Amino acid sequence: MHDLQHIARSLVVSGKGILAADESDASADEKRLKNHGIATGPLMRRQFRDLLLATPGVEEYLTGVILYKETLTQKASDGTPFPELLLKRGIMPGIKVDEGLEPLADSPEESITKGLLGLHERLQEYRTTYGTTFTKWRAAITIDGDRLPSAGAIVENAKRLALYACEVQKAGMVPILEPEVLLQGTHSRLRARAVIEQMMRVLFDTLNEQCADLNGIIIKTSMALSGSESGRMDTPKEVALDTVGALMETVPAEVAGIVFLSGGQTPEQATQNLAAITKLAREKNAPWPLTFSYARALQEDALTVWAGKEENLLAAREAFLARLASVAASVR
Ligand code: 13P
Repeated sequence: MHDLQHIARSLVVSGKGILAADESDASADEKRLKNHGIATGPLMRRQFRDLLLATPGVEEYLTGVILYKETLTQKASDGTPFPELLLKRGIMPGIKVDEGLEPLADSPEESITKGLLGLHERLQEYRTTYGTTFTKWRAAITIDGDRLPSAGAIVENAKRLALYACEVQKAGMVPILEPEVLLQGTHSRLRARAVIEQMMRVLFDTLNEQCADLNGIIIKTSMALSGSESGRMDTPKEVALDTVGALMETVPAEVAGIVFLSGGQTPEQATQNLAAITKLAREKNAPWPLTFSYARALQEDALTVWAGKEENLLAAREAFLARLASVAASVR
């Protein structure tokens, strides 16, 4: 367990964070490439990942990258397998191990995360063949007024997150537990805060009943934000107060670190909100280190500049590095 704590702590350090580049093949095609007018398919996904992972200098800002299984087997343009490329630069390769969402049986507007079946075997393969040291499991929690999330969605997702965490620790890797409270909806920031608190309380009760060692887990969370259809734009100070407040109320001090997802914020919002959160957490002596684990907020500028064209690659890498540098500066 000491090793796990060491790995977890080295993923969440001041001024550095984790890139999430773990979109499933379908999400990478539909939500990243197509959205930017770029052709889809395995070759374009390889180029998309190469654009990000082979950018010179990313090691200055990244401790780890979460990959999707296809990327484990693909190679950078110089022929180096992606996991090896990261390891050579002192960046830990991680792997998303859940298998996506399906409707929750009793409440089909909500979701449950799949992937416990065969998890043990997949973990062995990822660790021994590709050298991954950490993993991620994402649950998605929907807010609809006071009606959703249902108690069942919270409890069942917490149960699976806890089972996942135990299995991953047994396999000698660090689990990142991501109960994402979705931005979509008309809810207030205070409602988002209350749902984050509710989810964390149930999650830690469940983790305590299972075998997970909190010193060797990382929590990946949403910020407390007004819903995307609320018509309200929160200030960074408001976001920081409710996000740090929610986490200090509910996340035990032993947890190795907390990382944030960007969740549909613009790159600039995600940068400024994180800076305010970091500042407030420091003032309040929050017990755990905090950093970023963004996908969209880190990738957006680069994808826009790249547009799938070889001649834009250098400029796209510059845009990626510039965004990475400003997000990393917000956790310094
Ligand atoms: P976003 O930063 O785009 O929300 O993605 C983070 C992530 O890992 C979602 O699972």
